Order: sequence, then C-alpha cells, then structure tokens
Amino acid sequence: MTYSTLLYEVTDGIATITINRPDKLNALNGEVIAELGKAAEAVARDVAVRGAILTGAGPKAFVAGADIAELAHLAPGAARARSEEGQAVFDRYEQSGKPVIAAINGFALGGGLELAMACHLRVASEGAKFGQPEVKLGLCPGYGGTVRLPRLVGKGRALGLLLGGGMIDAAEAHRIGLVNQVVPADEVMGAAQALMSSILENGPLALQACLESVNLGMDLSQEEALSHEADLFGRLFGSADMKEGTGAFLARRKPQFRGV
Ligand code: COA
Repeated sequence: MTYSTLLYEVTDGIATITINRPDKLNALNGEVIAELGKAAEAVARDVAVRGAILTGAGPKAFVAGADIAELAHLAPGAARARSEEGQAVFDRYEQSGKPVIAAINGFALGGGLELAMACHLRVASEGAKFGQPEVKLGLCPGYGGTVRLPRLVGKGRALGLLLGGGMIDAAEAHRIGLVNQVVPADEVMGAAQALMSSILENGPLALQACLESVNLGMDLSQEEALSHEADLFGRLFGSADMKEGTGAFLARRKPQFRGV
C-alpha cells in the first residue's frame, strides 16, 4: 500500500502512522482522511500488526485540525458526508481491537484532538497544545469531538473547551485526564513506543477484550455492560493464552502469549 499524505511503517509488530503535511501543520484534508481510513484498515487486518502509534510530521503539530481551506467550500450535504466519513475512519482505530496510541508532538486542535481522542492512549510533548477551536470558525466539531471529549474529561470541562474555543497546555491536559503522559518533546515517540511495547507483552486476546468491554460498556447501562464483561471474561477461559498466563504465573516464569 502506498500513501501520499502518510508515512506508514511496521517495526516489531507496531505500525507507526505519521501524518505528513508539516507545511500545513498536518491539517486533515479529504485525502488525509481517506488515507487514514486505509491505514486503519491495514492496522485492523494485518496479523503482523499488534498495535499502532499515530503521530504528526515536523516539530510543531500533531494535527492542527481539519483543512480549513477545503472546509470553507463545502456545501451542507458534502459537509455532513465528510463528517460521517471522518467519524467512521476515527471509529476504525478505536474499534480495531488493537491498542492505538497518539504520540502528540505539538498542536492537537479540532480534528487533531478528535483523532487523538479516538486513540486509546495519549502521550504528549510538554509543549503540546490542545483545543476544539471550531466555534471560532462558526462551526462545531464534526469528527466526534462533542461526543468523546465529555466522555474523557466530563461534561463541564468539555463544554468549557468546546464553547470557549481556547487552548490548554499539556500540563492542564494531563491534569484533566485528556492525556495519559507528558514528556519532553524529543522523548514523545520513544515514550509512546515504550508504552506500546509494555502493553504488547500482555495477551492479545485479553487486550482485545479490555478494549471491547470499555468501548461498548461506555454506551450501555451498567447492567448490560457487566453482562457483556462476563461474556468476555468467560470466553477468555477457552483460550490457550489464559492457560499460558495463569500457568506461567504459578510456575514463576514469563508467559509466551500467542493470541489464541
Ligand atoms: N487548515 C488548513 N491550513 C492550516 C491549518 C488548518 N487547520 N492550520 C494551519 N494551517 C496552515 C496555515 O494556513 C499555514 O499555511 P501557509 O504557510 O501556506 O499560510 C501553515 O499551516 C502554518 O500555520 P500558521 O498559522 O502560519 O502557524 P502559526 O504557528 O502562526 O499558528 C496555529 C499555528 C495552530 C495556532 C494556527 O495555524 C491555527 O490556528 N490553525 C487553525 C486551527 C483550527 O482552527 N483548527 C480547527 C479547524 S476545524
């Protein structure tokens, strides 16, 4: 698969996807969205890929939002279709069944923050800035921002960011739970890779179950979510990995998970 707006490489089971429009601060135009969709599909389907890291090229930005030059000319029907397409692409990462980490190396604004929030974990540089500035353009977020932000940081904090349209720094983003980890700029990729490697030492089916239970459980009643968790828990007892993990603990050795 070749990409013109992304860099895609797989090393040690980790796909690194770099949005590569640094002169436009990696703004998401239609081509980037379409290619992010193809990359998400590759992550989900390629058995050699066990997790993915999303980042932006250059020192300034993760992604500075949807491409405003392109948005400015969209008619209402096309804008709705673009919103649905972007939402589906971001969902594909969230629902891939494999851990996805955003390595946020600078501005994560608008669609950039929405993409980062569709990832399961976020590692940010100390200088990163976060915001949903769409209202300043007479817009609201269209790639899941009004939906994922309140789920991550609570309704009041989300509305503060959404209605004000302002930016917060990495320390504040960490304080409110919007990012998991903040590190110096030159350590962002290394920290994301180390986090991913430590996650990938665990059983792939168990990781998948955690992701599925949390993703689905957030939108179910507590009773339904607990029942779904019990299904996943029971299913894992039929896996070789569960026998390997518990057996290795009891034998005081390191487990060798195979994802079966
Ligand atoms: N869409 C399209 N182009 C964008 C963009 C976006 N969301 N964000 C930045 N760019 C472009 C700029 O137009 C500029 O291009 P040019 O050099 O051809 O003029 C280039 O990226 C560099 O951006 P610039 O604004 O000069 O950098 P800065 O350091 O002065 O400011 C930001 C950085 C992030 C504060 C500023 O670019 C910005 O506010 N961007 C828009 C953020 C936004 O509203 N996102 C939500 C969109 S729905």
